[in-house]
Amino acid sequence: MTYVTEENLTDLAIERWSNIPDPRLRQIMTALVKHLHGFVREIEPTPEEWIAAIMWLTRVGQICDAKRQEFILASDVLGVSMLVDAINNRAPGAATPSTVEGPFHIPNSPEIADGGNMAEGAPGIPTFCTGKVTDLDGKPIAGAMLDMWQTDGEGLYEAQIEGAEGYMRGIYHTNPDGSYTVRTVAPIGYTIPMDGPIGELMNKTRISHMRPAHIHFHIAAPGYKSLTTHLFQKGCEYIDTDVVFGVKEPLIVEFVKKPAGSKAPTGEVMNEPFYEVKYDFKLAKAAAAMKAA
Ligand code: BEZ
Ligand code: FE
Repeated sequence: MTYVTEENLTDLAIERWSNIPDPRLRQIMTALVKHLHGFVREIEPTPEEWIAAIMWLTRVGQICDAKRQEFILASDVLGVSMLVDAINNRAPGAATPSTVEGPFHIPNSPEIADGGNMAEGAPGIPTFCTGKVTDLDGKPIAGAMLDMWQTDGEGLYEAQIEGAEGYMRGIYHTNPDGSYTVRTVAPIGYTIPMDGPIGELMNKTRISHMRPAHIHFHIAAPGYKSLTTHLFQKGCEYIDTDVVFGVKEPLIVEFVKKPAGSKAPTGEVMNEPFYEVKYDFKLAKAAAAMKAA
């Protein structure tokens, strides 16, 4: 029997956690023990610091419910969500990059016809998003689904408004030439929830707690790898400091301001200023489709 010393404890713990039949779980647990011990050896916490960390994690768990996921928020602000996303969405260079889904997606959004308004009655500057969904060679993908969600012009998602239903979200499909036209309002930058333990921690730092203005998309078409991404408004003040590390350069897009009296992409003449946002999404073939080719 080898008894415990400060020096041998990490090796003993790794050896014990190697006793797992499932090879993947064994790999995960031995790496977890190795890195956790490395972290503790590096910072050498006092007992008070250790219990403060345990109590903070306890509060993270206690605030979670069906609508609030503080552990995901922790993963987001530490850059872990974007790392997991990047590892699992390595796509050919020409494909539109992915970014995190975030906590505000609501499934089964209302189906809206091409050109229809997903921001009916919402405050904000009218905005028209147009473009195409294509494959990597620019071939149009007809019938691709665009599931979109965003904040209104006051920075609020449906989930943050009591009683709202089908607000600032919608499902569109591309035309036979791969094109889409969506009417919405311009989103604005907003803060992540700061009233819980993540906010408590952020408030001890000089890190911005803001997300830059963006529109969320899930895009799917048979035979293609589904894409979860955002479009970010170029020039938004939080674009270089996104608290969840979500901004990838190819996803930054100009919101082009048009004066009142201009014609919108839907053909209507607008009696107030509005934005036009043009973006073509490029989807990679699904792995199964690539194997078959
Ligand atoms: C969002 O964009 O909706 C979001 C993503 C991560 C954390 C908080 C919000
Ligand atoms: Fe968002």
